Amino acid sequence: MTTQSGITVESPGKPWTIVSSIPRPSPGKKQALVRSVVVGLNPVDPMQQQYGILVDEWPAVLGSDFAGLVLEVGEGCTKLKTGDYVFSCAFIGQNRYTPLQENFLVDEDLVFKKDEGTSLQGGSTFGAGLLTASLGLLAGTGITLPAPGTTPPKKEDWIIILGGSGTVGQFAVQLAKLCGYNVLASSSPSKASIPIRQGATTTFDSRAALEQQIAEIKKVTGGAFARVFDASAAGYDLAINALESASEAPVKYFSSVDDWSPFNTPSTIKEYRAELGHLGRYDEDLGATVSKQIAEWIPNLEEHIKHGSIKAIDYELVEGLGWEKAIEGLEKLTDGKATRKLAVVVGTEAVQS
Ligand SMILES: NC(=O)c1ccc[n+]([C@@H]2O[C@H](COP(=O)([O-])OP(=O)(O)OC[C@H]3O[C@@H](n4cnc5c(N)ncnc54)[C@H](OP(=O)(O)O)[C@@H]3O)[C@@H](O)[C@H]2O)c1
Repeated sequence: MTTQSGITVESPGKPWTIVSSIPRPSPGKKQALVRSVVVGLNPVDPMQQQYGILVDEWPAVLGSDFAGLVLEVGEGCTKLKTGDYVFSCAFIGQNRYTPLQENFLVDEDLVFKKDEGTSLQGGSTFGAGLLTASLGLLAGTGITLPAPGTTPPKKEDWIIILGGSGTVGQFAVQLAKLCGYNVLASSSPSKASIPIRQGATTTFDSRAALEQQIAEIKKVTGGAFARVFDASAAGYDLAINALESASEAPVKYFSSVDDWSPFNTPSTIKEYRAELGHLGRYDEDLGATVSKQIAEWIPNLEEHIKHGSIKAIDYELVEGLGWEKAIEGLEKLTDGKATRKLAVVVGTEAVQS
C-alpha cells in the first residue's frame, strides 16, 4: 500500500497530528486524484475535529475547501485531465476525499476547473461558501442564475442576506446581485463595507435590537421582499419576524445555513436548510439530491467565475508552507482569532499568485 503524509485526528477532541501513514487512494469512475496545494479553512473543520460531526471514520482525515492539481484521472472522465488545476469543497468527513493530505479524490462533476484569472489561493476561498450560498438561494428561495455574460432584468424586489460579511454571506450577496435583486445585508457595524464590496446596495447592524432591525428592513425595502437567507445561523427570529411583519409578498421564503436547530416556521413561509455536509453521500437521498443539484449548477457557476461575475473573497494567507502551517491556521480559527477566510499553502507545486 502506498502511503502519504497529511493531518489526522485520532478521535473527537484529539489534536491535529501530522502523519505519513495515510493510504493514497486511487480514482474510480469519473473521479480524479488531486494533489492538495492550498486549503481554505472553514468553521466546520474545527467542529469536526472537536465533535466528530459528519465524520465517517477515525482516525479522521479532515479538511473542506481546497485548490489543487489533478495528478491522475479515472475511467470515463471527460472534464478533467492530468495537469488541470481545480478547486471546490471536499466530501467532508470521508477520509479519501479530504484535502488535509497530500492527495485525495474528487468527482469531476463536483469541482471547478481553475481559469487563468483565478489564483490557487483565491480558488481555495470558493468551495463551501459558494456552494452553500447556491443551495441557500437557488434551491432555497427559487431564484435562477442567469447565463454567463447575460444580465437579467433588474428586479424591484429585495433579497435579505443575514451575515453578509461571512464567507457564505459574501457569496450569497454576489449571487443575489447577479440574479438581478436589490440586496440588503446585515453584518456587525465594523464589517459593513464587506457586503457592500460584494454588491449589496446597503446594510444594517446585525447586533441592533430585533425591532430596530425589522424597522430598518421595512424602511429600506418598503416591504418589497419575499426572501431572507440567513448565512449567519444567528438570524432565525429576525428572519421570521421580518417576513411576517414587514414583507408584502404573497409567497415568502426563509432559507438558512442552520441545519441543526429545531425551528417552528409558520406554514405561510417556505423553509429551506442548506445541507452541504451531505455532498458526495450518494447512498443517502439527501446526499444524492444535494450532489445532483450542485453538479448541475457547477458549469454555470464556473463560467461566471471565468467571466469575473463571481469573484473569490478576501482572504488571509497563513505565512509559510506545509502541514504545520495548516495546524497553525486551524488553531487560529478554533481560537476565534481569524478575521477573514484563512488560506494555507500545503503543497509544493507551483502556486500562481
Ligand atoms: N448547513 C450548511 O450546509 C453549511 C455550510 C457551510 C457553513 N455553514 C454554517 O454557516 C455559518 C456561516 O459559515 P461561514 O463559513 O460563512 O462562517 P463565517 O465566515 O465565520 O461567517 C459567520 C457570519 O456570521 C455572522 N455572525 C456571527 N455571530 C453573529 C450574531 N450573533 N448575530 C448575527 N450575525 C452573526 C458574522 O457576522 P460579523 O462577522 O459581521 O459579525 C459572519 O457574517 C456557520 O455557522 C457554518 O457552520 C453551514
